[in-house]
Amino acid sequence: MSPTPWPYYPVFMRLRGERVLLVGGGEVAVRKLRLLLRAGARPALVAAQLHDEVRQLCAEGAVHHIGEHFTPLQLAGARLVIAATSDAELNQRVAAAAQQAGVPVNVVDDAALSSFVTPSVVDRAPLLVAISTGGAAPVLARRLRERIEAWLPTGYGRLAAFMHRWRETVYTRLDGAARRALWERFLDSRAVERVLSGDEATAERDLQQMIEGRHPGGEVYLVGAGPGDPDLLTFKALRLMQQCDVVLYDRLISPQVLDLVRRDAQRIFVGKARSRHSLPQEEINAELVRLAKAGLRVLRLKGGDPFIFGRGGEEIDTLMAHGIPFQVVPGITAASGCAAYAGIPLTHRDYAQTCIFITGHARKDGQLNLPWDQLARRGQTVVVYMGLSTLPQIAARLIEHGLPSDWPAAMIEQGTSPEQRVVVGTLGTLPQAVAATGFSAASLLIVGEVVRLRERLAWYGGAGGESIARAVSPS
Ligand SMILES: C[S@@+](CC[C@H](N)C(=O)[O-])C[C@H]1O[C@@H](n2cnc3c(N)ncnc32)[C@H](O)[C@@H]1O
Repeated sequence: MSPTPWPYYPVFMRLRGERVLLVGGGEVAVRKLRLLLRAGARPALVAAQLHDEVRQLCAEGAVHHIGEHFTPLQLAGARLVIAATSDAELNQRVAAAAQQAGVPVNVVDDAALSSFVTPSVVDRAPLLVAISTGGAAPVLARRLRERIEAWLPTGYGRLAAFMHRWRETVYTRLDGAARRALWERFLDSRAVERVLSGDEATAERDLQQMIEGRHPGGEVYLVGAGPGDPDLLTFKALRLMQQCDVVLYDRLISPQVLDLVRRDAQRIFVGKARSRHSLPQEEINAELVRLAKAGLRVLRLKGGDPFIFGRGGEEIDTLMAHGIPFQVVPGITAASGCAAYAGIPLTHRDYAQTCIFITGHARKDGQLNLPWDQLARRGQTVVVYMGLSTLPQIAARLIEHGLPSDWPAAMIEQGTSPEQRVVVGTLGTLPQAVAATGFSAASLLIVGEVVRLRERLAWYGGAGGESIARAVSPS
C-alpha cells in the first residue's frame, strides 16, 4: 500500500527583515501579526479598519499600514501573503493575484485557496514544533499542541541554544560519527538537567569532559512524589522519573507512581516504616553519594514533599558535602493532598486563619514532646503527620490544654488513593472510632473546625471512603 500523500511540504522559512503582505486588520490579523513579528518579518498591512492592537503596532512602527484597499501592486517584494479578512470575495482576489505573481499565499481558514498553511506551533525558541493536519482537522492539531506543550519542558529552548553555542567547538574537535555519538551521550547525561535548571557552568564542564572522552559524574534528583495519586505528580517529577538510571524509594511511594519510573531503571527499596527502617538514614545518604559518584542519575523518590517531614534536608546536606549536583522537586504534601481529597479546606475565613503542620512521632520513651499550648487554640487547623499510633495521647493532651472534647477532628488513611478512608469525629470520640476501623497504613490527622466542612464539601469517594466516613459526626 502506498503511503498517504502529503497535502503540504513542511518547511520553516526565514522571514527576518522580509516583507510580508497581510490583508485584514481584525482580531485574526492581530494573531498573525504577533507571529510574523516573532519571526522578525516586516509586515505590510492593507485594511480599512484596524483593531486597537493593530493600530498600536502601526503607531510603534512595527507594522507598516500601506493602504485601505488591496491592489495587486502591493504584492511587489512580498515573500508571503496572508489574507485574513471576513470578505470571501476579497480573500479570493488576494489569493488569485498572489498565485499569479508567484507569491505563496495563505487564506485564513480556507485551505482550498491557500498555497501554504500555518501550523500550530509549540514555541521553545529556537526549538519549534509545528503541527499540521493540512487543514483537515485544525482542532485536532490544537489538541495535539496542548499535549506537547504540557509534555515538553519549557527549558528546551535553552537546551537547544546551549547545543547551538557548542556546535562549532564540537565540529572542530570531532568528526561525523563521533560527533553524533557525543551529542547522543550528552542528551543522556546529567548535563541536560543542569542546563534546564540554569546551571550551565556545570553543563559546560561536563560537555568539555565528554569531548575529551571522560565521563562526568552523576547527579541526584530529590523528588516529591505526592501523597499517592499519580495524577498529582508535577511535570518535572515525571520527567526526572523517566530519565533516571536508578531509583531509591520508600514505603510511601504507591505502586502506580513507581510504575511511571523508567522501566529499565534499577529499583532500590529503602523502606522506612515507623519502627522498621530498612536502611538507616546515614546509609541512604551514603548510597546516594556512591551511586552518583559512579556516574548515575539517581532518583530519590519520596512521598509527599521532600522538605516536609521527609529528611530531604539531611540528604542534600550530604550531597553538598561531597560536591554532587542535585535538584529538589517539591511535591504535594500529605496535608494538602489528603485535605483536598477529603473535602476539608485547611484554612477558612470563618473557622481557621492559621494552619500548623506537626509530627506526632513519639520519642523513644513513647512520649510526645509538643508545644501543646500553641496547638490547643481555636481559629486554627492542626495537621498531624505520623500521628496514628499516638492519636489517643494527642487527643487527650489537646483537651487537657483547653480544646473541648467535642472539637472536630478527622483521620484520613491513604489519602488521594482509591483506598482512601476517612473517619470524622471529635477529640473525644476519634481515637476509639479510628481503632474500631483498624487504620494501619499512612494516616493523617486533621484537627479543627474546618473538619465540619467535609459534610458539605466531600467529593472524592475512594473505594472504602464513604462507607465509614461518618463513623462519628461532629455537631
Ligand atoms: C515521614 S512522613 C512524610 C511526609 C511527606 N514528606 C509529605 O510531605 O507528605 C509520613 C507521614 O505522612 C503522612 N502521609 C503521607 N502520605 C499520606 C497519605 N497518602 N495519606 C495519609 N497520610 C499520609 C502520614 O502521616 C505518614 O505517617
